Amino acid sequence: MDLQVDLGDLPVDTSAPILVTGATGYVAGWIVKALLDAGATVHAAVRDPGDTAKVRHLAEAADASPGTLRLFASDLMREGSYREAMRGCRIVVHTASPFTRTVRDPGATSSTRPCTAPATCCAPRTTSRPSSAWCSPAPSPR
Ligand SMILES: NC(=O)c1ccc[n+]([C@@H]2O[C@H](COP(=O)([O-])OP(=O)(O)OC[C@H]3O[C@@H](n4cnc5c(N)ncnc54)[C@H](OP(=O)(O)O)[C@@H]3O)[C@@H](O)[C@H]2O)c1
Repeated sequence: MDLQVDLGDLPVDTSAPILVTGATGYVAGWIVKALLDAGATVHAAVRDPGDTAKVRHLAEAADASPGTLRLFASDLMREGSYREAMRGCRIVVHTASPFTRTVRDPGATSSTRPCTAPATCCAPRTTSRPSSAWCSPAPSPR
């Protein structure tokens, strides 16, 4: 990734880590790079941090930036698996997008699931289901 991502006037809060779900994905790759270039600490939630082919570009982006990358193993289908990745984060960029042909209960497999486990995380907002991408500041911990 040689290109610079121009966030324009969009302010990036670098005072706390920012969680990006689905970090191996296309959209997330650019978001992670932009956040790293802005100096943020990015908690990149991926299904398999050991899959070097999928996370190499993220590590390279981190090496070439002032930001810090931390990988976390998280899966939307595993309850509570975003708990560690969310620790300390105030902002979540949720791009993880499971693809399945058989959805019996869309609510139970919603992309808001990662945000339901930690009590102090965020108020999930989605623009569509089951796939969605949004960015939302989390409310202050209670
Ligand atoms: N691409 C576009 O032009 C575009 C435009 C507008 C909106 N969007 C929306 O933005 C979102 C991301 O799009 P994309 O193009 O970046 O998709 P993508 O490249 O297919 O990435 C999807 C990501 O979701 C992850 N994922 C899949 N199942 C998961 C699960 N069960 N738990 C956790 N993570 C899981 C994948 O991880 P693995 O690597 O482990 O499979 C991958 O990192 C989608 O909602 C899409 O509809 C995309």
